[in-house]
Amino acid sequence: MPVTYPLSINPTLKRYPPRKRELLQAWDSADELLLEHLSSMDLVDRKILIMNDSFGALGCALQPFAHTSVSDSFVSLRATELNSKGKVNTIDRLDQLAGPYDLVVARVPRNLSYFEDQLCQFSHHLKPGADLVIGYMVKYQTKTAFDLLNRIIGPTTTSLAKKKARLIFAKYKKSPTPSPYPTKVVMDGFPEPFLNHSNVFSREKLDIGARFLLDHLPSGDYRSILDLGCANGVIGIAAKRHFPSAELIFTDESRMAIQSAEVNFRTYFGGEALAKFHFTHCADGVADESVDLVLCNPPFHQGNTLTDVIAQQMFEAAKRVLVPGGKLRIVGNLHLHYPATLARIFGESEVIAKNQKFAIVDAIK
Ligand SMILES: C[S@@+](CC[C@H](N)C(=O)[O-])C[C@H]1O[C@@H](n2cnc3c(N)ncnc32)[C@H](O)[C@@H]1O
Repeated sequence: MPVTYPLSINPTLKRYPPRKRELLQAWDSADELLLEHLSSMDLVDRKILIMNDSFGALGCALQPFAHTSVSDSFVSLRATELNSKGKVNTIDRLDQLAGPYDLVVARVPRNLSYFEDQLCQFSHHLKPGADLVIGYMVKYQTKTAFDLLNRIIGPTTTSLAKKKARLIFAKYKKSPTPSPYPTKVVMDGFPEPFLNHSNVFSREKLDIGARFLLDHLPSGDYRSILDLGCANGVIGIAAKRHFPSAELIFTDESRMAIQSAEVNFRTYFGGEALAKFHFTHCADGVADESVDLVLCNPPFHQGNTLTDVIAQQMFEAAKRVLVPGGKLRIVGNLHLHYPATLARIFGESEVIAKNQKFAIVDAIK
């Protein structure tokens, strides 16, 4: 007789970072559908890998069973840690996988190159015949996710849709596949190629907002510069070339971003050059009043949710870490009202350049 176990979402689950009046839920109906399906499976004695859990809904519910939760996102891992009171075993790098796993419970991530990388990397850690159960919201469905699963894992089937969510089922029938990531990309104006891990923002070319910010680096005597939300480190590396005696600090909530930024910085400036790399939320871990200049091309979504909350939190973090008189320079889409947000946080802001799409905005502490 299979031993089954009812699994459900803990309704007290919270998103991260915490907000005073949170309007968004920390799970969705794809998480609910996954748990409903897993409740009918015998999970005893299975080694389970959870992938891309947003805020810990899956990890917390599967706590009674041996499992590891892997994510590239500091925010997701911190949420999982807080929601499970530290009881879920989390890892933030695919090279820390320790299979063989016989059940993978996953969400399809927004970035399908990252999904491809994940499937390739854990194909080396799966038992033959291992089950994959993967949840997704129908509105984000892409044929590419199915193509990747069919190519790297084995034939797929799907569940019926429920509350706009569906499941994909796959069995591991293929052989281990080498991952095509990380890749190297040459960017205009930079002599050395950049190494980009699969989940790095604008992995294939320089972002046009970033390009506009690079065309408007400030002049001044900056000794400590923070590249806030650094991705592959391109802004901070350009700043270091511009201000060679400055110490650089890089922060990002993507582990792959921080890994890429560190490799790229060392390619340009060698092992001795002063720099710090923080896998963190905004600028958590950077000392108060320790930075002369913050450069930022803020994100405008968290997972699949479009939001300016993270940008606002980045601006508040920038204010905290800047020395009095220090400068935050950002680039943003014209429709995003960053000048008003910055004026509210800093007292004043100034648009110093504009094109048809972007504005460069300064705020002084
Ligand atoms: C618009 S991209 C800019 C990347 C890079 N600076 C550039 O200009 O090409 C925003 C970056 O912020 C990072 N990010 C998103 N949420 C974050 C958070 N809560 N804390 C720190 N970084 C975050 C993303 O991973 C992404 O690398």
